[in-house]
Amino acid sequence: MRGPSCRGLLCLVALASFTESLAAGQRCPHKLKESVNPPRGWAKHSIPPAEHNIVLRIALPQPNFGVLEKHLYEVSDPYHPRYGAHLSKEEVDGLVAPHQESIDAVDEWLMSYDIKETDFVRSPAKDWVTLTLPVRLVEEMLNTTYHVWKHEGSGDSIVRTTSYSLPENLHEHIDLVQPTTMFGQFKEMKSTIVWSDDTEAPSQSKNVASIHNPATGVPVDASCNKTITIKCLQQLYNAVGFTPTQLSKNTIGITGYLEEFANLQDLQSFYAEQRPDALNSSFEFISVKGGLNNQTLSEAGAEANLDVQFAFGLSHPIAGTFYSTAGRPPFKPDVGTPTNTNEPYADWLDFVLSHPNTPLTVSTSYGDHEQTVPESYARRTCASFAQLGARGVSLMFSSGDGGVGDNDANPATQTCFTNDGRNATRFIPLFPASCPFVTSVGGTQNVPEIAVSRFFSGGGFSDYFPRPWYQDKVVEKYLKALPKGTYEGLFNPAGRGIPDVAAQGDRFRIWLRGVPRSIGGTSASAPTFAGIVALLNDVRLSHGQPPLGFLNPLLYSKAVSGFNDITIGHNSGCGTTGFNCTEGWDPVTGLGTPNFGKLKKLVL
Ligand SMILES: *[C@@H]1O[C@H](CO)[C@@H](O)[C@H](O)[C@H]1NC(C)=O
Ligand SMILES: *[C@@H]1O[C@H](CO)[C@@H](O)[C@H](O)[C@H]1NC(C)=O
Ligand SMILES: *[C@@H]1O[C@H](CO)[C@@H](O)[C@H](O)[C@H]1NC(C)=O
Ligand SMILES: *[C@@H]1O[C@H](CO)[C@@H](O)[C@H](O)[C@H]1NC(C)=O
Ligand SMILES: *[C@@H]1O[C@H](CO)[C@@H](O)[C@H](O)[C@H]1NC(C)=O
Ligand SMILES: *[C@@H]1O[C@H](CO)[C@@H](O)[C@H](O)[C@H]1NC(C)=O
Repeated sequence: MRGPSCRGLLCLVALASFTESLAAGQRCPHKLKESVNPPRGWAKHSIPPAEHNIVLRIALPQPNFGVLEKHLYEVSDPYHPRYGAHLSKEEVDGLVAPHQESIDAVDEWLMSYDIKETDFVRSPAKDWVTLTLPVRLVEEMLNTTYHVWKHEGSGDSIVRTTSYSLPENLHEHIDLVQPTTMFGQFKEMKSTIVWSDDTEAPSQSKNVASIHNPATGVPVDASCNKTITIKCLQQLYNAVGFTPTQLSKNTIGITGYLEEFANLQDLQSFYAEQRPDALNSSFEFISVKGGLNNQTLSEAGAEANLDVQFAFGLSHPIAGTFYSTAGRPPFKPDVGTPTNTNEPYADWLDFVLSHPNTPLTVSTSYGDHEQTVPESYARRTCASFAQLGARGVSLMFSSGDGGVGDNDANPATQTCFTNDGRNATRFIPLFPASCPFVTSVGGTQNVPEIAVSRFFSGGGFSDYFPRPWYQDKVVEKYLKALPKGTYEGLFNPAGRGIPDVAAQGDRFRIWLRGVPRSIGGTSASAPTFAGIVALLNDVRLSHGQPPLGFLNPLLYSKAVSGFNDITIGHNSGCGTTGFNCTEGWDPVTGLGTPNFGKLKKLVL
């Protein structure tokens, strides 16, 4: 007797007609698609009620992603004839479109559960299908059992499973289905921020003492060694007196999550103090999936205010956009229709990938432990960042505040254990900073600059993503100089090195809820670097050139001499002193901090 044939859409038992097997609901046997260990701190709590709905996201394979990647690298390589020839949204959509066969196979599978095309939403490239379904039906479709999982520290609840299956014939037509095994979620997606009590006012006098900064030769106000203002960053990064002119084409965006609101009144107070010529200017607010914008002063968010004040303050008068993406813990599993999928990057990416116009520079100060994000999911998200890069968008992410540890700025509470069942000690890189298609930004302090030490600049090597070619030379040099056996087994020397670059990250004077506050974190470094990138885009646009787009191939080659190399400091974590800053690239401060005066020549 012949076994079932799994080549077709449904599992057709020999001799049975298509309709008969449909009626009988016969499908190929399920085969395990993915299985994970729940991250530390999560425990099974209860069975989700039958009325619980899941917003299911199905990723169809992108068979031509390799072609997209090739385009991305060509248009981002300053020595390639196609440098700057970015792709349109339609071209990118075409390159990530799944095979028609996959679309049909998934449609047939859904139809076999009586799910019609009108019940689901397709992404513009047709590479994602999103639909809301009752949990019991999802369990049947994925041959799995969902549980409510509770986080012991925060008490947060999520509905997840540790493994799921798909009919065997669908494995080649579906990359992943979520939310299933994705435990990395809002609460873990910490903003990288560190508080400080010290709120010294910036010096207002014209004849202030200054520090000689050997990195650029530009004198820096002595107060900048204690309190960072817009003026300090302009001096440190050699951008004093530069005025952007290409205002119709250039834009800079900040992403906000966790109901972090960027307050307009605080922004005006900040401008009055640090950027008087920007007074009365504002930014565009964009709500993603119902993201709110509460302008009550007491609702202002530290992360949002920091990002907006420094990114827009540095790049003024370039137009700014603030994205507020909905969703906030605790997630109540008993609510019939959740308002969000608890997967905020996915929601933001859905939004920007489906719009033709995206800011040329975007900064994000959030991250998850790479290991709490299933590898398949991290790869797809990273591939989405590549799509934006190919379209000419530069993406900045904070590298984290826990050194080689888990983004916990307090070394005593860091957890540096693998999640793979072995519970082995291991350094913990952050995602998306570990994605090779984004620019990850570490932190510095003081004048002259050293690696930040009040907390530690996130850095190290990805366990998921191999080292991209643009890093080969500098990372191999760094690894070669490491004494043999250093941290053996604690990191992946073949992985993508983190961070790419750095910027000041401590004692930033912001305005929050009506008063000045001093805060730090690589949360401050990413928008600072993004502000400089927006200015560099102005330089390119004013010479009739396309924007910078994906930065890394440029930064590691033609622009490498445009950085102030940081050679002092290290990034402790996981009970070690971490890696050391060295001459050239290091996994603490990357290539160093930007020298705008040099970079503006190197980017042309
Ligand atoms: C579902 O999984 C169980 C094991 O967990 C297995 O026994 C069963 O055959 C599977 N069902 C299908 C339809 O594949
Ligand atoms: C900056 O501050 C650091 C630490 O407080 C100090 O060691 C250093 O000497 C200061 N730099 C200057 C130029 O005063
Ligand atoms: C801002 O607006 C106020 C009130 O309308 C006005 O007095 C002030 O000159 C404006 N400042 C700038 C820099 O435009
Ligand atoms: C904003 O937040 C305040 C304080 O929590 C609340 O009273 C108010 O209703 C909120 N406003 C809106 C429009 O949501
Ligand atoms: C992992 O190992 C550490 C140190 O040995 C221990 O403190 C921790 O409880 C272990 N965690 C699990 C989940 O076994
Ligand atoms: C960092 O430098 C210190 C002091 O020179 C040295 O003891 C340590 O081994 C170095 N660590 C690494 C990882 O290179």
